[in-house]
Amino acid sequence: VTEELPPFSPPAIQVTFLPLNITVKAHRGDTILDAALENGIQMEHECGGNCTCTTCHVTVEEGDYNLSPMQQPEDERLSTTDARRENSRLGCQALLRNGPVVVTVRGDTQPDE
Ligand code: FES
Repeated sequence: VTEELPPFSPPAIQVTFLPLNITVKAHRGDTILDAALENGIQMEHECGGNCTCTTCHVTVEEGDYNLSPMQQPEDERLSTTDARRENSRLGCQALLRNGPVVVTVRGDTQPDE
């Protein structure tokens, strides 16, 4: 997968995943979840990135202004978890616009399917 990089957009956006403390490079337009999975970081994504679980829950420690603004479905989904904080995002919904971004992977387990 990492061999298919288009020459016009090298993966230039730095994303750091805590508590692993691993920094990777991702493409503009990738989600935080994409950035993790493309770089071998096991991040939960039970619903497959469809905004219907909260297993990809992260908190953004730095660089929230480098992410796409939260849309209503993400906001509503996050409202279903008690673990939500002011800086919560869903890893599969937040798009990387710029970097660097630092997130803590929380990965809620959600038994209400
Ligand atoms: S993977 Fe389910 S909401 Fe992100």
